[in-house]
Amino acid sequence: MKYITFALAKGRLARKTMELLEQIGIFCEEMKDEKTRKLIFVNEELKLKFFLAKASDVPTYVEYGAADIGVVGRDTILEEGRKLYEVMDLGFGKCRMCVCGPASAKELLNHKELIRVASKYPGIAKDYFYHTKHQTVEMIKLNGSVELAPIVGLSEVIVDIVETGSTLRENGLEVLEEICECTARMVVNEVSLKMEHDRITDIITRLKEVI
Ligand code: PRP
Repeated sequence: MKYITFALAKGRLARKTMELLEQIGIFCEEMKDEKTRKLIFVNEELKLKFFLAKASDVPTYVEYGAADIGVVGRDTILEEGRKLYEVMDLGFGKCRMCVCGPASAKELLNHKELIRVASKYPGIAKDYFYHTKHQTVEMIKLNGSVELAPIVGLSEVIVDIVETGSTLRENGLEVLEEICECTARMVVNEVSLKMEHDRITDIITRLKEVI
């Protein structure tokens, strides 16, 4: 029997995914060792493999078939725009993709002025400003701590995920507009879904029963 391989976004999403899989009898004990630096874990009995990847790479592994199944946030799926089947909303990892900035930037959005937008998600941001708001903007790609940008004058606003809202609050920023809600999703490689149809749909069906 061939292995079914899972690519998980490392960190909290991977931990939550394993908790969920445990509810349907899928375990991987060696993954629970917090000190391990291993990236690949195997359940020989069930012929399953799990690997931990950077969230933004999960859709890539799944599209190319290096993983059959992936678990990653909808934000990353939208940004990466890969060819894959999104089969299930897992419900956890809930956050909102928002346009944020100082309260004073609200006017710039209302008047559709040419503004600078900093984001880790330039694809989502560009799509929102060009196709939903019909506002021309200058996009600036950043890789983290995006809240800095409007504070130090790099941009007028940011597009970023907001979970608890504390990063915004502690930096004097606020949500100005909401783009969409995001949760963790299960994605499947298109060929794998055909070739391993029974095993993969069985996992999906059993997960749907416990969610
Ligand atoms: C994310 C996001 C916000 C923050 C939102 O950053 O980009 O900065 O979390 O969470 P909150 O609403 O609960 O404060 P992350 O922690 O992934 O780090 P990064 O900024 O370095 O990407």
